[in-house]
Amino acid sequence: MTGRLPRKPLIRRQSTLDSNFAMDQQPPPLEGPSFPIAYIGAGGINFGSAEGPWNHSFRFEHKLGPRLCVQTIVDPAISTSEIVLNNKRASFVEKAYRDTITHQSIPKYIEASKNSGIFPKIVVIGAPPQFRGCLIENRNAEQLLSKAFPEVAMFIEKPISTATVEEARALDNYFKEHKHIVSVGYMFRYLKVVSQLREIIQSKKLRVITISARYAPTYPEISKRFWWDKTGACGPIVEQATHFVDLCRFIGGEINLDTVMAHAVEYDEEPGELQMISADEKSVPGERRIPRATNAIWKFTSGAVGHLQHVVALHGNRFEASIDVFCDGFRFHLRDLYTTPILLVRTPMNDNDIVYDFPDDDPYFGEISTLVDAVETGDRSQILSSFEDAMKTYEATWAIRLASERTTAERRARSKKQMPK
Ligand SMILES: NC(=O)c1ccc[n+]([C@@H]2O[C@H](COP(=O)([O-])OP(=O)(O)OC[C@H]3O[C@@H](n4cnc5c(N)ncnc54)[C@H](O)[C@@H]3O)[C@@H](O)[C@H]2O)c1
Repeated sequence: MTGRLPRKPLIRRQSTLDSNFAMDQQPPPLEGPSFPIAYIGAGGINFGSAEGPWNHSFRFEHKLGPRLCVQTIVDPAISTSEIVLNNKRASFVEKAYRDTITHQSIPKYIEASKNSGIFPKIVVIGAPPQFRGCLIENRNAEQLLSKAFPEVAMFIEKPISTATVEEARALDNYFKEHKHIVSVGYMFRYLKVVSQLREIIQSKKLRVITISARYAPTYPEISKRFWWDKTGACGPIVEQATHFVDLCRFIGGEINLDTVMAHAVEYDEEPGELQMISADEKSVPGERRIPRATNAIWKFTSGAVGHLQHVVALHGNRFEASIDVFCDGFRFHLRDLYTTPILLVRTPMNDNDIVYDFPDDDPYFGEISTLVDAVETGDRSQILSSFEDAMKTYEATWAIRLASERTTAERRARSKKQMPK
């Protein structure tokens, strides 16, 4: 079965099944008042990368069309911003970038903004997570922007931070006291295959028994050294598997953090030897290197059991990313979420799968389009990932990381004891 995309978006949707996020089927954006936005970070997430289909600026251009006015690109690497800007100005979206000013830091941008009197409606925060997600000086991007622009909406990339859970919670509490519209970049929540799965569970009043999620990137191309260093990107569970922990929560409800258990294969164990690492991992101190595989289990507060497997092992290009959900009589299998998302459903009526796919569904457009609509209408109820919610995913990913580090430390202590004196 191929899902059909409704032509006309509904005013208030029940789920993303009521919306159409296929970019080639959007109506042309209309003329109207200027819509100023600011980009923090001139890298892949905001301006595109060969690694995947993300590129927020492209989605904003198609959502806002002639109204889009990119006020600034903030990035300490001014040359990166200049390259991005020159490319945009040489294209059909030139008007949106004609007056864009590049800045090396958020304080410099804020100062310039005060002078110009132009304030952004949305800031798109796509800087690396080391520089955001808490209230610590120089890592408090959101707080600085909030103080300067009390009305601004924020789009914040995952993971929300690399700070400790307590440090990130300080920002969560800050947001609770301020009225910003905030959307966090857990785009898979907007996929129709995900909505379809949730819709079947809800409409048939099914109870989830177990969920198992697997994320295996292709590692030889990951050349950024900081990704291989836990003090850099915070490790692959917090940085990468976070999307799948988030989906586990979106489908299965809250995780009881006290039940999280995990084991890892570490870099210095025999099965952890990898031949194709292109980054300079050898210069990362041993205790900071990332695990090659992490298997975690936990109980949801519903009583269901959850499982996550993150593996650094595959070569080639295609990441493996899938989720299996079992309910009484049903098995749901979600896969290829980055490329050609598909949902396979086995039901009590038939051992063969029903196949759901929604050609051209674009979850990145879904999250951007939803945020713009929320800013225009003031109704944030359609945003599927608030900061408060993303904070819970952050806590869960840290709980998995810490659980695996604990069992590794215990195993190492045991084998030290057993070593002949
Ligand atoms: N949701 C997704 O599918 C997805 C995909 C890719 C990246 N991301 C997330 O987006 C974020 C950025 O990733 P990326 O791939 O764009 O990285 P990147 O390395 O391509 O780009 C990051 C940019 O931020 C700049 N930068 C560094 N410090 C800064 C600061 N203090 N203020 C402003 N800019 C700063 C860098 O100079 C660089 O140009 C990460 O959190 C990543 O996890 C999400």
